[in-house]
Amino acid sequence: MKKITIIAVVLLLFFSPSFLFSEGAKEKKVENKLEIFSWWTAGGEAEGLEAMFDIYKSKYPDVEIINATVAGGAGANAKAVLATRMQGGNPPDSFQVHAGHELIDTWVVAGKMEPITFIFKDNGWMDVYPKGVIDIISYKGEIYSVPVNIHRSNVLWYNKRIFQESGLTPPKTLDEFFQVAEKLANMGITPLALGDKNTWTSTHLLESVLLATLGPEGYKGLWDGSTPWDGSAVRKALDNFVRMLKYVNTDHAALTWDAATQYVIDGKSAMNIMGDWAEGYFKAKGLTPGKEFGWLPSPGTQGSFMMLSDSFGLPKGAPHRENAIRWLTVCGSREGQDAFNPIKGSIPSRIDGDKSLYDEYLQSAMKDFSKNAIVPSVAHGAAASEGWLTKINDIMTVFVSERNIDKAVEQFSKAARESLGK
Ligand code: GAL
Repeated sequence: MKKITIIAVVLLLFFSPSFLFSEGAKEKKVENKLEIFSWWTAGGEAEGLEAMFDIYKSKYPDVEIINATVAGGAGANAKAVLATRMQGGNPPDSFQVHAGHELIDTWVVAGKMEPITFIFKDNGWMDVYPKGVIDIISYKGEIYSVPVNIHRSNVLWYNKRIFQESGLTPPKTLDEFFQVAEKLANMGITPLALGDKNTWTSTHLLESVLLATLGPEGYKGLWDGSTPWDGSAVRKALDNFVRMLKYVNTDHAALTWDAATQYVIDGKSAMNIMGDWAEGYFKAKGLTPGKEFGWLPSPGTQGSFMMLSDSFGLPKGAPHRENAIRWLTVCGSREGQDAFNPIKGSIPSRIDGDKSLYDEYLQSAMKDFSKNAIVPSVAHGAAASEGWLTKINDIMTVFVSERNIDKAVEQFSKAARESLGK
């Protein structure tokens, strides 16, 4: 009996490691995945993401990439899906998140992210990212995401043919905008395309008008309490915004940002105020910058660069942590950024991008980024917490339909007080 037991134990010891090993290997093989969560589904942004995936696949051909996208610009739907997943302990391996308040206030302070300073150090990146960029992705001395780009929010895009044929000049100031818009409207052309099916596009338009009306310092002061929301400058900005709404397409509430951009391509509207992912969209549709479409800083904002940055982080409990670290390494590399950004319509967040790969618009954006006053976008998570932004978006939904300035001022002021704790 004793002998049989000993033989059984020996047999078990002999076979079990290989048994465990082969199961483990099997499991590892099945599990060699990388799930990347984003809202990049429209023309330009989807292709840009694919370009980074291609680099990843060429380096790690055995890893299966799961492209977990949730459609809806600016994360209109994705952010809620992500929150549910994170709360349920089901994080993706890495997710798109705006650098600044969105990253820090929503995820880092809540203890949901791993610090990734080591990736920056291991790759020698501490000196190839501007200090200002490192600052907005850092918390208590640690870095928490890899920024893949810098986007500009305050851009006016216009259909060149419409302006040539009408003999009009694209507007540089708000006054010029209203003059040109009136003339276009009289010619039967919709001056400005808006697609606010998801409210963020109204907020996006408002931030440009706030910047134009308040100037860069006044605009920045809105987010630290030094510019009052119930002062005459904000009222003036809201008045400008309401005046602008007179010139938008009547079906704006049914369109998304990309459908509104398509209106400019199709000549259904003359202009659009949208971030430079619209440039990625124009190019994805086969257009050439400077040929069919032109650009200017949104009216009245010359000299200011309203910035935002898309980044990727490492959630705690990422199911395929090693693959995620490799992904972040691609995102932060020069090669990754120079493949992604020329397609995406953004400029690299690194200082050493290869300029020759960037078109005329993007080179002008690089130049402006280096000399303009830099201000943070609120519609895209850089200027204020997500909680505050949600309140602003809610106020905008009602404001666009009611156009009641007194009510909006009161609500904006309340939201600012609550968010700043003042
Ligand atoms: C922004 C994002 C851009 C672009 C845009 C439209 O929030 O930063 O990269 O994707 O939404 O989807």
